[in-house]
Order: sequence, then structure tokens, then C-alpha cells
Amino acid sequence: MVLLNLTIENVTKQFGDKLAVNDVSFELTAGVYGFLGANGAGKTTLMRMLVTLINPTSGRILFDGKDVEVLGDEYRDNLGYLPQDIGLYKNFSAEKYLMYISAIKGIEQQAAKKKIDELLEVVNLSEHKKRKVGKFSGGMKQRLGIAQALLNDPKVLVVDEPTAGLDPKERIRFRNLLSSISKERIVLLSTHIVSDIEFIAKEIIVFKAGQLIQKDKPEELLENIRGFIWTVNVSEHEVIGFQNKYKVSNIISNQNKVALRIISESKPDDRAIEASPNLEDLYLYYFDQEVAQ
Ligand SMILES: Nc1ncnc2c1ncn2[C@@H]1O[C@H](COP(=O)(O)OP(=O)(O)OP(=O)(O)O)[C@@H](O)[C@H]1O
Ligand SMILES: [Mg+2]
Repeated sequence: MVLLNLTIENVTKQFGDKLAVNDVSFELTAGVYGFLGANGAGKTTLMRMLVTLINPTSGRILFDGKDVEVLGDEYRDNLGYLPQDIGLYKNFSAEKYLMYISAIKGIEQQAAKKKIDELLEVVNLSEHKKRKVGKFSGGMKQRLGIAQALLNDPKVLVVDEPTAGLDPKERIRFRNLLSSISKERIVLLSTHIVSDIEFIAKEIIVFKAGQLIQKDKPEELLENIRGFIWTVNVSEHEVIGFQNKYKVSNIISNQNKVALRIISESKPDDRAIEASPNLEDLYLYYFDQEVAQ
């Protein structure tokens, strides 16, 4: 059987006296992992270590049991990376851009051509391959970004906030694309947007202030907050009071009544009725007011 395992072992990254990633350990196998955290949680820093752009201050990363620093290019040959701010060459056509990246990755020209045609199909850009990248929409650019990350058929694909700035339709398309390529790869996707990973993540990794605070299947994570989610119908003038006292994940006005969705470990009001948790609630539970959009 082919191994596919990435082990993060007590990894810490310090910038000056800033601990960006603090003693993090976890394991990844094939499938999509959603990497959830607020701004500055350390997602990008950890991802940059996973793709060997920076080295941990301490700790190790193991690919199929071997230290990636020792493996060097043998590991990097298995990597695909879509950075948070990918620079695309706007005067290149999609096809030319992919040829250029293939050359950088050392892929032989004939093989590259074949692979590029194949990938343009996968990311649904075949029709636009001659078009200049500068004229692409946000979603098309991100799909091209994924195509470049897949040129070397990576076993480990790291994508850093790929859906920022995409409209809902483009987000869904992108989500389906990642899901469809994740069977024999480790895909790690960071986001602030819960709905990006709700349906495709095998596990969600919750990161806060440089530390891993949760790693589990979405449904298991939701079980952890069962009993903490409430809905309560209040009058308009009561809304502010509840907002000041509780985490309110949703407010729906209906004539002169307001339905509040509240996250609270104890029953917030006599009128409150327990509700089933969702991932938006989970995000709010861990990240206070830093609500996902
Ligand atoms: N090169 C660097 N030098 C100094 N501090 C850094 C550096 N890179 C990151 N940091 C700090 O480390 C912390 C984690 O940053 P990181 O970019 O990893 O967070 P993030 O979770 O990716 O945030 P975002 O959601 O905004 O992308 C932040 O406090 C950041 O300011
Ligand atoms: Mg980041």
C-alpha cells in the first residue's frame, strides 16, 4: 500500500519575540482538511513551513515518516502550493503561463503540453486558454492558480485562502474542484469562510493564536457545542441587551419580533429553545466577534 502521511511534530515558528506557530502537532492523510482561524492565527506561517518556504524554529515535519528537510527536493517534487497572494503574469495567456511554470518546475515540454491540456479541462478553462490572464475574473484566476499547483501531480496540495474575493458561484465551483482532486492527495485549505469547507472537509483544524485547538470531523466538532446553541424570540428593544451579553450568531426580524440565535453554555432566557449547531456557530464559539462573513 502506498503511504501518504504528513506528520507535524511539535512545530514552532518564532519571528523575533512573536510566536506565530506554537508547538503544533497533528497528522494528515489523503483528503481535504479545512484550516480555520481568524486573522493572524498562524495559518499562512504553518503552510509556508509545510511547503518548505520557511523552516520551523523547532519541531519537525515528516512526509511518510521522513524529515522533509532531509528529503529536500524529493519532498518538494510532491508539493503543490497556491499562495494567499499569487502573482500571475497578466500579459500571459493561461496556456503560456502554465508552460512557463512547467519550465520552472523542470517538466519536459511535451509532457507539460499534455498535462496542461488535461488540467485546463479539470479547472474548466480550456475555452479560455488563449485569453490573457489579466482579463480573467477572480474565480478564473484561482482556478488557474490551482492548475499551476497541480502541474507536477502533487501528493500534498496546500491552498491558502483560495476563495477570498470570489462570488458564491465561483466559490462553489472551486470547492467542487478541490473535492474532486482530493482522493489520492492531502489537500489543506485555509479559510475564514466556514461554508467553503463545511461539505468537503474530512476534518477541520481550528487554529487560534498559533495553537491547534481542535482537529476533528465536522460533525464531531459540532457535537462538542451541542447544547450551547439557542434561538429566542424577543422584542426589538431587547436585541441590544442580548447582543451585549451573548454571542449572537444570527438575527432575523419578523414584523415586530426578532429571532436571535445565541451561543451560550447556559440557557440565556426562559423563552430560549435549543437549536442544532452549525459551523457558523462553531466559528463564533471559538472566535468571539470575529464572525465569518
Ligand atoms: N515574516 C514575519 N515576520 C514577523 N511576523 C510575522 C511574519 N509572518 C507572520 N508574522 C506574524 O505571525 C502571526 C501569524 O501570521 P499568519 O500570516 O501566519 O496568520 P494567518 O492565520 O495566515 O492570518 P490571515 O488570516 O490574516 O492570513 C501574525 O501575528 C503575523 O503578524
Ligand atoms: Mg494567511
